[in-house]
Amino acid sequence: MSKTEVDLNKIPEGKNMVVKWQGKPVFIRHRTQAEIDEANAMDISALRDPQADSDRVQKPEWLVMIGVCTHLGCVPIGEAGDYGGWFCPCHGSHYDISGRIRRGPAPINLVIPQYVFDGDKLIIG
Ligand code: FES
Repeated sequence: MSKTEVDLNKIPEGKNMVVKWQGKPVFIRHRTQAEIDEANAMDISALRDPQADSDRVQKPEWLVMIGVCTHLGCVPIGEAGDYGGWFCPCHGSHYDISGRIRRGPAPINLVIPQYVFDGDKLIIG
């Protein structure tokens, strides 16, 4: 299985980067403290796919997800939608700042790939 290596120093706080891994986009967001607090403040019992933010990240400031909408596979747009995260323009799925589905037809949250941190590097795969 191929791996993708990312230098995390190139992603300022509050910004996204999109990289390719196994032909798919992977979204990496360097979250701000306000975004982390917002992701943790959510009452998960109200979610379609209930998942705590802490179960979706290894380090709270780094959110890493496969950038493929779980509805029918379009690529969502970052910093868009009604929940401060991603928006899929194909049929209107809104994902929050943890990549959790909040509104629209997508059945589950954006998927988290396997990854590890190695110093300032992120290794996906
Ligand atoms: Fe994203 Fe349908 S593919 S909402």
